[in-house]
Amino acid sequence: MSKVTTLVDSTFGPPLDRAWWKSAVVYQIYPISFCDSNGDGFGDLNGILTKLDYLKDLGVDVIWLSPIYKSPLADMGYDIADYCDIDPRYGTLQDWDKLIEGVHQRGMKLMMDLVVNHTSDEHDWFIQSRSGKDNPKRDWYVWRPPKYDAKGNRKPPNNWKSAFQGSAWEYDENTDEYYLHIYLTKQPDLNWDNPKVRDAVYDMMNWWVSRGCDGFRMDVINLISKVEGLPDAPIIDPNSEYHPGSVYYANGPRVHEYIQEMNKRVLSKHDLITVGETPFTPPTAQHALIPYVLPSNNELNMVFQFELMGIDAPLPQEGQTVDDQDLKWRQWELSEMKQVVNRWQTFGRDEGFWNALYIENHDRARSVSRFGNDSPQWRTLSAKLLAMLQATQSGTLYVYQGEEIGMKNVPTDWGLEEYKDVCTINFWKDMLNQRRKELGKNDVDMSDILEGIQHKARDHARTPMQWDTSLHSGFTTGIPWMRVNDDYVDWNVQSQLSDPSSIRTFWKNTLRVRKENEVLTYGDFKLLRPSHEQIFAYTRTLDQIVVLVLLNFGEENIEFSLSDDINGTMRLILGNYTPEELIQPGGTVILHGWEGRVYIQNGR
Ligand code: GLC
Ligand code: CA
Repeated sequence: MSKVTTLVDSTFGPPLDRAWWKSAVVYQIYPISFCDSNGDGFGDLNGILTKLDYLKDLGVDVIWLSPIYKSPLADMGYDIADYCDIDPRYGTLQDWDKLIEGVHQRGMKLMMDLVVNHTSDEHDWFIQSRSGKDNPKRDWYVWRPPKYDAKGNRKPPNNWKSAFQGSAWEYDENTDEYYLHIYLTKQPDLNWDNPKVRDAVYDMMNWWVSRGCDGFRMDVINLISKVEGLPDAPIIDPNSEYHPGSVYYANGPRVHEYIQEMNKRVLSKHDLITVGETPFTPPTAQHALIPYVLPSNNELNMVFQFELMGIDAPLPQEGQTVDDQDLKWRQWELSEMKQVVNRWQTFGRDEGFWNALYIENHDRARSVSRFGNDSPQWRTLSAKLLAMLQATQSGTLYVYQGEEIGMKNVPTDWGLEEYKDVCTINFWKDMLNQRRKELGKNDVDMSDILEGIQHKARDHARTPMQWDTSLHSGFTTGIPWMRVNDDYVDWNVQSQLSDPSSIRTFWKNTLRVRKENEVLTYGDFKLLRPSHEQIFAYTRTLDQIVVLVLLNFGEENIEFSLSDDINGTMRLILGNYTPEELIQPGGTVILHGWEGRVYIQNGR
């Protein structure tokens, strides 16, 4: 058994050890929607190359590319058919070499998306594996014989539900067995219990590092170890045949052993940045994520936890596991957000736990629509407030493409046909079928489901980047693979670059302020007024330096009395209005609608 340290056992160095990847700003590129260099409607590597100066100017240190490997794009590249080649839509390996050179020349780094819980069913490993029970690669995936019910009907080996609807098993007639796929049928799960699979993954990682890659974002890495015997999931909904099985595959029995092995064989040999994506971890089990990050365990630098991302999902019922792909929507309270932020900002700090800060990515709706207010009056202000919220927390900061110009969700008058994500489409079909069955008629009310999609679908983050006012926002000279958001003429990079009051200018300034003031990256976090439903206020402290953050999450003006929250004169370093430059203990400030302010004491 490998040693897994939990919080109780703190046997290592100071919590605030500095590291380049801790103070880095990471920018996530969703390649297909970033910049198309050859007019075929798909973003590509050469397109990214033309935007490196733009990213450098913003203050980006590390670029994370969502998958660009050879792929049928059933799940937009998270279904990889060849780990060591680039999909022709994105370019060639030579284009990648040019890109990494351009990145390094500018003093930036590049991390790749490592998707190794599953491959595409078009990967050669799987093609071999499914070709016969005796094939040497048979055991590289998870194959099981069918089960039969009392009437002799063939059934999957267990009742697990796929994250993208239906059974998590697909029947293969050729060998009369099923293979496991936690995601799409086109995404068979690798069998990590087979050491040959692990060797192949580590070899591939070392190959990318030797080519110049500086780190990895690890897709659903906490799902790689399944509980032996693959037991049936608890039955949640008696009307349904399949049930969420994540208790048997999320943060499973050997996951730390495998990641420690990966660390030993790959990560520890280089100075990389690593972040693991860790879904399906219920709010009550968040401590299960700590061991991935504690330095003494030698695993990863940090993880993407999902707690904030689940804040607008229906509350799980007793005994129910979380469903991270749930597109149903619920209004959330500011106090809930504060609680989550507070928990992670203080979690395991003395033991060296380190956060990954994000509120937007390719799997989530746009943050200004979700956590801010995207109406014309408040869009710019609330996007800037959200920039302050992220840039004043402890952790490594991740910015998603378009977030820096306040891109928002697609308009509500877009029909379902504009949504391209398989997860959205399957969810809609599933709910429709379910309702039709339940009500025994074809004409059923789906308005709540549509509303959920309009709030939360992954498609919102996947519309093409809005570069300028030309047709298709300068993303492509051809027909874009997905429709450009209608608002691009008013909301684009070009106009924001020349506007000192734009969101883009604000982000650049904010990232500079974060870098100039170490307290923002490393300081201790203290939440003020936890139950206040309009103002999110906290301090950050590092040695003698104190920062006060005041964020008004409402449209109404509101008074905030500084009482004894501060003990000396503080100076403004960031704000989205033009407020008092200095504040004093015992004073009072009035925050306007969506106003955010950041003050410092004894700082630069
Ligand atoms: C991760 C990715 C998501 C993908 C899923 C399956 O959650 O971020 O886009 O669909 O894994 O690979
Ligand atoms: Ca292209």
